[in-house]
Amino acid sequence: MTERTFIAIKPDAVQRGLIGKIISRIEEKGYKIIALKMLEVSEKQAAAHYAEHYGKPFYPNLVKFITSTPIVAMVIEGDNAILGMRQIMGKTNPANAEVGTIRGDFSPEMSFNVIHGSDGPESAEREIAIYFKPEEMCTGWKTAFEILKEKMN
Ligand SMILES: Nc1ncnc2c1ncn2[C@@H]1O[C@H](COP(=O)(O)OP(=O)(O)O)[C@@H](O)[C@H]1O
Ligand SMILES: [Mg+2]
Repeated sequence: MTERTFIAIKPDAVQRGLIGKIISRIEEKGYKIIALKMLEVSEKQAAAHYAEHYGKPFYPNLVKFITSTPIVAMVIEGDNAILGMRQIMGKTNPANAEVGTIRGDFSPEMSFNVIHGSDGPESAEREIAIYFKPEEMCTGWKTAFEILKEKMN
């Protein structure tokens, strides 16, 4: 099933010059980037994004971190893209993330785990709406992978 998921390249990865490498992995997998922008996350956006973690010990630092330096926000579309992106990202704690995943390859630490990805259809819809307007979705084009699949139908 075609899904949309919200992905953010976090401030640590932006500062460390990893934007290109992370986007390459998403493109190489064959997913479609239908929206992309660099932005400074507002306090309001951070609170909405991480509402589920409000009150946890790491919450204040998480908000401080996500609002500290720009992020690169994306909407990614593809077959089972929500779980697929979580697999490409690797486990939340990079120390436990498999080698070959983005977190496993690019970070040793939980607080600097380089990428965010929605964890289910409801959070994807909610998170996309925090960062993007519907008119920001670029949907009127086809990737080479989509064209390839169409030819085989
Ligand atoms: N115990 C923790 N200590 C520090 N930071 C944490 C901790 N748990 C979660 N975080 C941070 O909060 C983010 C959101 O947590 P969570 O939703 O559980 O993980 P994920 O980003 O894999 O969906 C994590 O990506 C990480 O940056
Ligand atoms: Mg999460």
